[in-house]
Amino acid sequence: MSSASAEQATGPFGLPIDASLAADVRVGLDSVERVLLEAVQSEDPLLTQASKHLVEAGGKRFRPMLVLLAAQFGDPAAPGVVPAAVVVELTHLATLYHDDVMDEAPVRRGQPSANSRWTNTVAILTGDYLFARASDLLADLGPEAVRIQARAFARLVRGQIQETVGPAGGADPLKHYLQVMADKTGSLIAVSGQFGALLSGADQRIVDTVTSACEKIGVAFQLSDDILDIASEAEQSGKTPGTDLREGIRTLPMHHVLAGVGSGPDDARLRELLVADLTDDDLHAEALRLLRAHPAMDRARADLRGWAEDARDELLTLPDIPARAALVGLCDYVVSRTG
Ligand code: IPE
Ligand code: IPE
Ligand code: MG
Ligand code: MG
Repeated sequence: MSSASAEQATGPFGLPIDASLAADVRVGLDSVERVLLEAVQSEDPLLTQASKHLVEAGGKRFRPMLVLLAAQFGDPAAPGVVPAAVVVELTHLATLYHDDVMDEAPVRRGQPSANSRWTNTVAILTGDYLFARASDLLADLGPEAVRIQARAFARLVRGQIQETVGPAGGADPLKHYLQVMADKTGSLIAVSGQFGALLSGADQRIVDTVTSACEKIGVAFQLSDDILDIASEAEQSGKTPGTDLREGIRTLPMHHVLAGVGSGPDDARLRELLVADLTDDDLHAEALRLLRAHPAMDRARADLRGWAEDARDELLTLPDIPARAALVGLCDYVVSRTG
């Protein structure tokens, strides 16, 4: 039976997914929650409290979802699947604790970030603890899984540091930005798909295709996150709008403005602001207002659609099972969440 004619249900992320797949994924995600909470328990009460803080604050569980969907290409009940989903979420969570220190972000998942609720020291150590917990679970998944995760993590860190230092003199800033997107976010999202397919015992060709498509989904996901940082309000994102502007992190719409997209009366002023220090509240508000209204936002949305379409084209070479339709639905979700 093709996925299109199966009984449909609405799954997480508003996915129009097959009802029996939706039930499977729901059971998987419930197990992920249970193991996640067990994994962050520590003998130290502050470490437990600070670790649980963001786990309990929610989050989309986008990466565990990818693991579970990719596992449908093999045996979704294989023993490594749920632990792998927990490993990627713990790794992601750890990077969020560290990222909020780096970005001086006050709010995360609709709650005070760990650095603002406690201190940078507590946030950094909690992130380290979560990495350690992820490694512990990973050890049971075998040396290949350990190596995959270690390499993705190294890429993620390289992406974060490359974002911090910016492009070398003479380098193409847009190319640099897209490399950062792939490294800091595409890497772990690719591993989510890879783990699901690999640990469920799917064919190597399927593992490779899922991994590559998920990396593209990851780039699209980070592009949408960067658009939302400008366009959304805190109630939607659970974060503080305009954090990238305030921190001087140049994202896709800003690159388009600086490269000359648009020809409105405010363009010169916006370009001036984008190379200025925007820690001043009034300047920051002015830059955010001008950028929100600028055609560069639509250009960035078009780029985002391009990445999502490339991911979808690659997914469509996979066997036509309901999980394929769900993964394609995730490409739509990543685009539609930016409005
Ligand atoms: C935020 O990731 C950081 C990025 C890599 C864009 P998510 O948007 O998946 O954050 P949560 O897990 O839902 O909070
Ligand atoms: C997050 O990047 C990427 C990683 C944590 C690896 P951002 O700084 O863009 O993410 P948000 O917007 O704070 O979630
Ligand atoms: Mg950040
Ligand atoms: Mg950051």
